[in-house]
Amino acid sequence: MALGGMFRNAAAIYLHLVGPFRGKKSGASLARCLHQTLVMTKQLQARRLNGIDHNPWVEFVKLASEADVVNLGQGFPDFAPPDFAVEAFQHAVSGDFMLNQYTKAFGYPPLTKILASFFGKLLGQDMDPLKNVLVTVGAYGALFTAFQALVDEGDEVIIIEPFFDCYEPMTLMAGGRPVFVSLKLVFSRAELELVASLCQQHDVVCITDEVYQWLVYDGCQHVSIATLPGMWERTLTIGSAGKTFSATGWKVGWVLGPESLLKHLRTVHQNSIFHCPTQAQAAVAQSFEREQLHFGQPSSYFVQLPQAIQRCRDHMIQSLKSVGLRPVIPQGSYFLITDISEFKSKMPNLPGAADEPYDRRFVKWMIKNKGLMAIPVSIFYSVPHQKLFDHYIRFCFMKDESTLQAMDKKLQKWKDDLRP
Ligand SMILES: Cc1ncc(COP(=O)(O)O)c(C=O)c1O
Repeated sequence: MALGGMFRNAAAIYLHLVGPFRGKKSGASLARCLHQTLVMTKQLQARRLNGIDHNPWVEFVKLASEADVVNLGQGFPDFAPPDFAVEAFQHAVSGDFMLNQYTKAFGYPPLTKILASFFGKLLGQDMDPLKNVLVTVGAYGALFTAFQALVDEGDEVIIIEPFFDCYEPMTLMAGGRPVFVSLKLVFSRAELELVASLCQQHDVVCITDEVYQWLVYDGCQHVSIATLPGMWERTLTIGSAGKTFSATGWKVGWVLGPESLLKHLRTVHQNSIFHCPTQAQAAVAQSFEREQLHFGQPSSYFVQLPQAIQRCRDHMIQSLKSVGLRPVIPQGSYFLITDISEFKSKMPNLPGAADEPYDRRFVKWMIKNKGLMAIPVSIFYSVPHQKLFDHYIRFCFMKDESTLQAMDKKLQKWKDDLRP
């Protein structure tokens, strides 16, 4: 098997290096040679890709693009980032020409500096920008780097459900074994303390994805698990400028943590991405510098954004209730979950594969018949647990007023259809 793999790679490299300089004839014999290799090889893709080729986002985003659909599925704002952030990006593009060039591998220095000082205060740590901060390609990049750096063949990775769906394939690609624990309520401080004590009792590293930390509603407070006693030394805290400044396309993320953990992430980073786009990092640095000056004041984006988005959330809750959907009121994030049990009992036989969870069939039905897209919640659960959580769908309310009005129109029509 190992020999097959080596031969396959050698053939591929030969094709790449020599192919362009060869005539048609030798190209054909090369193709034959490669074909022979393919036949000899049991499978072309690396074993770590087995079983992870299907991605629900690709499927549902494609469905939404095929019809006149209001997309409330994917988690991104469809309104502009704040002016100060846009101006910071414009400045980064049109100012110092050196911002067109590579910067430091582990982060643009003004960005690592402000992240260390800003989050150092929040996490109660004296953070060194060179040792405790790593800038990555979005929070996705941070997660991937963390899994690659810390998960070994056969390691158990405990994933709390519902989970951001990439945690499972990232664990598998690193050779780990996912173990799923379903969450019944939203995390409270007491529950976080319990998780923290279990981590310490069993010597477990905690990877905490806090990309929605500023989007907290109803006066609730975000609690970073790294601030709990004994947790800083074993926690990687992940953040995203995309979610922080409503600019998901910038793809700037970061990991904060102790040097003992971060040094291993730097090894992965320097052998994969090496460094992230300089101008986007400069814009994020300047945006954080601005926020640091306004911190906690009414002028702060981190204060204004949740207030505005709470209104979007409340708007959506009222609208969804009008057609018999039963939203669960969230205290944070971009999303709300709606119970569709009543639909499940009234229309149990929606089209779809026999083993397809009900929520997926319902979302496909809703896209086609009601022009609204949501995301089936079962995709955030492991396969054995999906059937238990197939009567919820997720809507994104991080949307412009015009999108919410378009949703209202679709729901109004739905309501009219319900009249006898
Ligand atoms: C929970 C969570 N973590 C991470 C990410 C990825 O963030 P980024 O766009 O910065 O890569 C997302 C994006 O939707 C998310 O919802």
